[in-house]
Amino acid sequence: MNAQQPILQVRDLEKRFNISGDFLDQLKFQGGKIVRKQENVHAINGVSFDVMKGEALCVVGESGCGKSTVARTVMGLLKPSGGSIHYNGERIDQLSDRAVLPYRKKMQMIFQNPYASLNPRKTITQTLEEPVRFHNPGMSETEVKDKVKAVMFDVGIDPGWGVRYPHEFSGGQRQRISIARALTLDPEFVVADEPISALDVSIQAQVLNLMMKAQEEHNLTYLFITHDLSVVEHFGTRVAVMYLGTLCELAPTKTLFATPRHPYTQALLSAIPRLQDHRPNHIKLQGEVPTPVNLPSGCVFHGRCPHANDRCRQEVPKLVPQSDGSQVACHGVEEGRL
Ligand SMILES: Nc1ncnc2c1ncn2[C@@H]1O[C@H](COP(=O)(O)OP(=O)(O)OP(=O)(O)O)[C@@H](O)[C@H]1O
Ligand code: SF4
Ligand SMILES: [Mg+2]
Repeated sequence: MNAQQPILQVRDLEKRFNISGDFLDQLKFQGGKIVRKQENVHAINGVSFDVMKGEALCVVGESGCGKSTVARTVMGLLKPSGGSIHYNGERIDQLSDRAVLPYRKKMQMIFQNPYASLNPRKTITQTLEEPVRFHNPGMSETEVKDKVKAVMFDVGIDPGWGVRYPHEFSGGQRQRISIARALTLDPEFVVADEPISALDVSIQAQVLNLMMKAQEEHNLTYLFITHDLSVVEHFGTRVAVMYLGTLCELAPTKTLFATPRHPYTQALLSAIPRLQDHRPNHIKLQGEVPTPVNLPSGCVFHGRCPHANDRCRQEVPKLVPQSDGSQVACHGVEEGRL
């Protein structure tokens, strides 16, 4: 395993959702004339990052900042509006359904809601065996069954329960089954979108430990989406902080928690209560997160940033590598005034 080699390279990723409705909905009466108006949600605005082989890159940020959209676009479930995605050096964001098939095996996704992501009409064995058969046409029936049983055992689900349906399991068990479904295909890369948020707090640590064990045993690379910073601190190799569809800061986990550089990261971290807190007191941000329909000019954070100046209001800051291994998109940091 080479920790320095990127498995995934995302460059200048953009995703807009058109929310104007059909043609008639788009016609508006303005200044005595009928004009056609289209509105877009700017969900992702020029996001670039690498995921290194073997790491767990955590993506954090408030609700609506675009975490799931990044996850779904990386997985090919959404087409990007701009930019590119490479996997092991191959561009994957424009592949045909046929050409994308090998990646559907190597790249697996675990969703937030294990209730919705398992088919209620199929037994667990059916759910787990089907993709193994589909992606491994050369495997015998015995091999398929043995593979599924071994993985079920691995994730702590008795293979004898395979005849049961999803509703017969608890939330934590269902998420274990979802993890098993991803692992039966021997993936290299797993995108997990808030995989423990829907679970009882008492179960969260167990499922997280299972994912960490799986990472070690199967040499997995994770892109792990969460809004829970305590999870990041235990799980993440590096952290990417998002705000309003842009990347503010990307840093090794320890560095980010010890010395957050971007004003938004500082505010986000200052909200975690701690016993021994060396950090500044809670930073209260002014205002609300603006809507991604009308993006602010310049730095998308400028309306809420205590350090904003004229340049911030006009020019979009770029992600710049720092001497401590982090990358920060902030004029104030670049100018040395923060
Ligand atoms: N299919 C869609 N159509 C229109 N807008 C969408 C669609 N999917 C997402 N959005 C919008 O894009 C933005 C980013 O959404 P996204 O779900 O990626 O955020 P998130 O960070 O995952 O939030 P959460 O923490 O609540 O899951 C939001 O403003 C959301 O309303
Ligand atoms: S670029 Fe300016 S507005 Fe944006 S975070 Fe940095 S200092 Fe604040
Ligand atoms: Mg989400």
